[in-house]
Amino acid sequence: MTTPTTLARDAEPFSPEAIDDQVSSVAAGLRARISESLANIPLPVEDPSPVIDALSGGKHLRARTLLLIAHSFGTPDPRFSAEAAVALELLHTASLVHDDIIDRSQFRRGLPSLHSAADEATAILIADLLIAVSFETAAALGERAVTPLARAFGQLCQGQLLEPALGWGADARPAIENYATLKTGALFGSAFELGAMAASYDPALQDRFRASGERLGLAFQLTDDLLDVRDDALNLGKDHGADLRNGIPTLPLWSAYRRLVDLGETRCASDSSLRDALAGEAGSDRTLRYTKKRIVALVEECRSLLPPATQPGAVDLTVDAVLADLGQSSGPDCESEAP
Ligand code: IPE
Ligand code: IPE
Ligand code: MG
Ligand code: MG
Repeated sequence: MTTPTTLARDAEPFSPEAIDDQVSSVAAGLRARISESLANIPLPVEDPSPVIDALSGGKHLRARTLLLIAHSFGTPDPRFSAEAAVALELLHTASLVHDDIIDRSQFRRGLPSLHSAADEATAILIADLLIAVSFETAAALGERAVTPLARAFGQLCQGQLLEPALGWGADARPAIENYATLKTGALFGSAFELGAMAASYDPALQDRFRASGERLGLAFQLTDDLLDVRDDALNLGKDHGADLRNGIPTLPLWSAYRRLVDLGETRCASDSSLRDALAGEAGSDRTLRYTKKRIVALVEECRSLLPPATQPGAVDLTVDAVLADLGQSSGPDCESEAP
């Protein structure tokens, strides 16, 4: 029998400090849920506690997003928002464990990735277990809580499945953005939907909340893609330069390649002799400006899709939290510049 996570301070008026406390409660609930789930499993590691730390760690951005959106649009139900946030973070973490296997990444959240610390079979199965626990957690809140999570996780998998077929051609940008919206935007879409549900907002507007969250989630993925290619963003606690190593046309890498082609480059993006030139162009201020400009436009779309908030400051905090890492890469602010 698991103990539900409930937020004691949800009845209090909104404040950034109260949200920080609530995110901490969700993180503690998440850790407890993961510990319970792994309690009887003989993990092939000397000490399971760093594994549990890594699985329950991270920035908890999707939980924070759900809580902030709930406070933006009403008075959240404390049990619903806490348990939905735990379920969302469990799904996200499971996706990272699988992603690290797919991307052959060695580090996650400042520690060895699970498949490196244990082994691949263990990592696959633990992630599967977390997916099951996530759905069990959401199911206790009713079918309406399961639907956004199930849809988003399906989209995440579809996005990851599109990855090998992505191209570098001049017209590839919509496909790249569709892939990133599916693999990352969808979970943020479900955070917005579940936040609106926790606040008992008009269910007829669920689709708008989802679409808005997807825009912000895409902006988040573009930020992550940018940090992966920037030399001034090295303290991410995970592999750096993984997208270039794996030949994935993220928006910054694609725009850098298109620039090289415009300058006369004829080699394929996958040609290993092009790697240094591509890394140099991807890390340039030009690519930074190009990607930031797209991020700014997506944030505008996110905001314009939302109905008027009762607590607009909480919407601002959501955007600030999701894009906080953008400040990690120095350089100019955005201006118009096409690849
Ligand atoms: C990493 O997400 C995966 C992406 C979608 C880029 P986060 O940066 O939110 O990961 P944690 O949870 O903080 O580790
Ligand atoms: C992963 O995207 C998104 C998921 C669906 C897990 P990335 O591959 O860019 O995530 P990181 O950079 O490894 O965290
Ligand atoms: Mg990855
Ligand atoms: Mg990445």
